[in-house]
Amino acid sequence: MGRRFRNHSGVMGMIAQIRPGLAVGFLLLVAACSQGPDPRNWASTGRSWDEQHFSPLGLINADTVDELGLTWFADLNTDRGQEATPLVVDGVLYNTEPWNITTAYNAATGEQLWRYDPQVPLRFGRLACCDIVTRGLGFHAGESGGKVIIGALDGRLIALDAASGEEVWSMQTTDPADRYTITGAPRVYGDRILIGNGGAEMGVRGYVSAYDANSGELLWRWYTVPGNPADGFENAAMEAAAETWSGTWWQSGGGGTVWDAISYDPELDLVYIGTGNGSPWARKFRSPEGGDNLYLASIVALDGATGEYRWHYQTTPGEEWDYTATQQMVLADIEIDGVTRQVIMQAPKNGFFYVLDRATGELISAETIAPINWASGIDMETGRPIENPEARYGTIPVMVSPGAGGAHNWNPMAYSPATGLVYVPVTETYMAYAAAESYQPGRGLGTAFAGHDDIRREIADYADANSKGWLSAWDPVTQSERWRVPYAQKGSGGVLATAGNLVFQGTIGTTFAAYRADNGEKVWEMPVQNVPIAAPITYMVDDEQYIAVNAGWGGGLAHVERSAYSNLHLGPPRLLVFKLGGSAQLPPMPEESFVVPELSPPPAPEADDETVARGEALYGENCAICHGNAARGGVKDLRHMSPATHAAFAEIVLGGSRAANGMASFADVLTDEESQDIHHYLIARANEDWGD
Ligand code: HEC
Repeated sequence: MGRRFRNHSGVMGMIAQIRPGLAVGFLLLVAACSQGPDPRNWASTGRSWDEQHFSPLGLINADTVDELGLTWFADLNTDRGQEATPLVVDGVLYNTEPWNITTAYNAATGEQLWRYDPQVPLRFGRLACCDIVTRGLGFHAGESGGKVIIGALDGRLIALDAASGEEVWSMQTTDPADRYTITGAPRVYGDRILIGNGGAEMGVRGYVSAYDANSGELLWRWYTVPGNPADGFENAAMEAAAETWSGTWWQSGGGGTVWDAISYDPELDLVYIGTGNGSPWARKFRSPEGGDNLYLASIVALDGATGEYRWHYQTTPGEEWDYTATQQMVLADIEIDGVTRQVIMQAPKNGFFYVLDRATGELISAETIAPINWASGIDMETGRPIENPEARYGTIPVMVSPGAGGAHNWNPMAYSPATGLVYVPVTETYMAYAAAESYQPGRGLGTAFAGHDDIRREIADYADANSKGWLSAWDPVTQSERWRVPYAQKGSGGVLATAGNLVFQGTIGTTFAAYRADNGEKVWEMPVQNVPIAAPITYMVDDEQYIAVNAGWGGGLAHVERSAYSNLHLGPPRLLVFKLGGSAQLPPMPEESFVVPELSPPPAPEADDETVARGEALYGENCAICHGNAARGGVKDLRHMSPATHAAFAEIVLGGSRAANGMASFADVLTDEESQDIHHYLIARANEDWGD
């Protein structure tokens, strides 16, 4: 099962160098050597199958970290979001970037060994709600040599020879004609590869699949929501789930996609999947008579060998706020009321921190980690949230927290068995939710992103004033915060915890920082010219410990965020690698990074109200998801288009001239006239807000 530890003497040497104050770390290290994966490697996205994002390495520790410096770096290919956790196996670092461009480096020197581009068709950029990101790779240590496993945006699962970077096999895990994408990291458990997909914003039906790592053959597949009853249910779990839906839900896909986290307990042989939001968002359009809509927003345990349903816990029954439970699920054995419990822990988007028994799914405890208003707590009798009825929105916008970005999103948290704490990147968010007047399956989210602009403006102002982020050290036993590092804005990155009593995190202040794991004291920080939103890793080559992280702002938060982030001055996205005594220097920031572009006044509005209204509706259906509510902010603020962009509008929107950077052509859904209507709406919005 787990890869055995090879170089015992090396780690013993390492232990000897750690200061006595870290006795707990020593013990752990020894324990880890005898059973877990090789601590020198980081061969799975959470390092171990329990997804703890914890390393038993302690050469870099709270006492030595002040000597930490950059040792090598590599420029990345696009300036879209870099969300991937790199892997390291036996001295080779494997990285992956938007469009699934995958690279191998000598992990000590940074020398590039190979590069592989799967040539993902650019049209998939439009199907990725939250940027053309990838969150990582899998690694299969087979007898015939290692394989790097890619889950490509276009739904392919690709195995590469780890030594050469050449393709060994490739499988299409989705129907390419449908609107699925893969952004999550494949997980490799022995010879099984687990992979999910995304697309709940596009009207798909979620599922997870297991493939054979040697042959690429499909072993099993489990759908997360029921299909059309007329086609027959795949299994008893689907039949049971169908009882919790009404109407003709299958026409809109249903959603529940497994777009990120998967964990595995080899002793129980249980695979845990986290499922996503409903499709469409507004429940009344997918299940008019209400209902819990199983298995949306749930943690589901499946039999590892067969994919059969074992148990589930639904975090948000009748979900309609994009409250995915796809966030990382950490397995740990912790003592609660004097008893060691095998738990699974999750901080999904909905703002609660859950501790469940991972053998049975029994809810042990749940508390909020951030201020929220959609629910006031969890009823421990029923395990259900105590909902605020006002959060169930109609056509008039209401302010709900958390917003769709969640109190915790995909950015990995970390659990340290040494401190017993979970280190969670938390955000406090607020969002305007309103149902659309009508909905057609496959078009939009069933929500309105425009209209009632006075209310929207008020909500947006409140959200701007009150949104923030922090790193929380959460005690899962007492369900309370032990310490916190506050940040002025939300948007800080994933977390790594180590036996060196350290927690590493990229910050929205364009730095990479280390805190003491026991008390949160900042012990090291370095400006890195970009925001490392991804999770850092640590590994060893020869006698040296390294820390690596991808730094590149983007992803869902950058897509929905308002222009508040225009104060981020960013250098090129990079993979950064640090070690004690590292002395590499980043080149100076390019001068244009500091230039605030001069805004040109928008063209004069010339369209009639009817045209603008048509454009507004089309904008809401097709563009708002990436360019923001009422065209405020988003990935590119379309109120601030330059004269050249206005002139090139049709070329961009219909011609696909920016497709390589994630803005694919809409020629298959919009006519010339509809594109012009949207343009008129944007000109009208730009004029309304000009000078503000
Ligand atoms: C899946 C996300 C996504 C969707 C949906 C989307 N866009 Fe984009 N758009 C992008 C990205 C990413 C860029 C930035 C491209 C770049 O950096 O060159 C962009 C850039 C643009 C630009 C160039 C802006 C500038 O100032 O440079 C225009 C115009 C544009 N989009 C219009 C639209 C319109 C109109 C729609 C709806 C019909 C739309 N987009 C839907 C992702 C999206």
